[in-house]
Amino acid sequence: MDIGERQRRRMTRSCRDSVSNGNVRAGEGQRDRDTGDRDPSVEHSVCAPRYSLVQEVGRGSYGVVYEAVARSSGTVVAVKKLRCDAPENVELALAEFWALTSLEKRHENVVQLEECVLQRNGMAQKMSHGNKRSRQYLRLVETSLKGERVLCAEPCYLWFVMEFCEGGDLSRFILSRQPDPHTNTSFMQQLSSAVAFLHQNNIVHRDLKPDNILISERSGAPVLKVADFGLSKVCAGLASGSGGRSDAEDKNKLEVNVNKFWLSSACGSDFYMAPEVWEGHYTAKADIFALGIIIWAMIERITFIDRESKREQLGTYVRQGADIVPVGEALLENPKMVLCIPQRRRSHMSSALRKLLKDMLAVNPQDRPDAQELHGRISRVICAG
Ligand SMILES: Nc1ncnc2c1ncn2[C@@H]1O[C@H](COP(=O)(O)OP(=O)(O)O)[C@@H](O)[C@H]1O
Ligand SMILES: [Mg+2]
Repeated sequence: MDIGERQRRRMTRSCRDSVSNGNVRAGEGQRDRDTGDRDPSVEHSVCAPRYSLVQEVGRGSYGVVYEAVARSSGTVVAVKKLRCDAPENVELALAEFWALTSLEKRHENVVQLEECVLQRNGMAQKMSHGNKRSRQYLRLVETSLKGERVLCAEPCYLWFVMEFCEGGDLSRFILSRQPDPHTNTSFMQQLSSAVAFLHQNNIVHRDLKPDNILISERSGAPVLKVADFGLSKVCAGLASGSGGRSDAEDKNKLEVNVNKFWLSSACGSDFYMAPEVWEGHYTAKADIFALGIIIWAMIERITFIDRESKREQLGTYVRQGADIVPVGEALLENPKMVLCIPQRRRSHMSSALRKLLKDMLAVNPQDRPDAQELHGRISRVICAG
């Protein structure tokens, strides 16, 4: 049993102990306990409880993810529970909510949000994008903007109900199987398709890494799902949800170029962060760099042990003496450094793929392909290879 498997089993056990009170409810006609008013934001009449939690499947720094079953349909779903007390938790929860609800169309390779439920005082209400009539929603926005707690004493949770990805994450999936060039090429296409879709919809993910790329095997062949939008950014001109948008707003949405939209909070995970992210001044091209690291590592099965989770993760790095240094950090220190792609002598990599990876990992973001271009190039590299 590998470390990840052991960890998963331990989590499963601990979750079973707490399942008895682990139901997600969505109620109707809820009264706001602070004011006694009927909350006008409650949209749906739903019998509680709607989901039964089966087991814990993941735990990040800010939330817990469960496998659950929708009682009415028997559909297996994933439910991510985020406690909205500290402002930083609220910020992550809202970022995820805004990104996933700003998408008007589905994409096969982006995890599907079924609904988002806000729970407080044992009652719950369904959240919709930009619901300005909901006091709870406005409180969350205020908490996030002010950076200080403006919520009431009772714990408040956001539950994200999503499609369930039973195949685990990318590292686990790839490393638990024999190398398979067909899977690699299919995953490259799926990943670039997802990122092209997100960028087209003005979403910069900012935390692309194997942990956040999940696999669904429901339809037979493995299908990748980009997940965890907690650090994502919906760039200006964002969709305001269905309906009510003016022509001018639609035009504005189309005109946003995420590759020229500058972001400043340095965030992500070290090994996948582009050099300019370390400096805190970057665009959507940072996602292309992260994808370059992931694809390179996947093809050559290059791994490291993640310090926090102690799990083996796909990711390339640069050796400096006894240390391993993230590629982006090393490039920031030495922009002239030449990356050795492929890293292993025995790796088979066409020259077109090698060139593509080098371009994706270019120090200057402008030298990297944008997501659309990348998707086209990956298709051509695969056809030629
Ligand atoms: N839809 C899902 N289906 C199956 N497992 C999931 C799903 N979403 C998340 N997980 C599991 O939970 C872990 C943490 O979820 P994630 O959304 O990445 O939250 P965090 O912000 O805590 O990293 C994932 O790495 C994965 O193992
Ligand atoms: Mg995550």
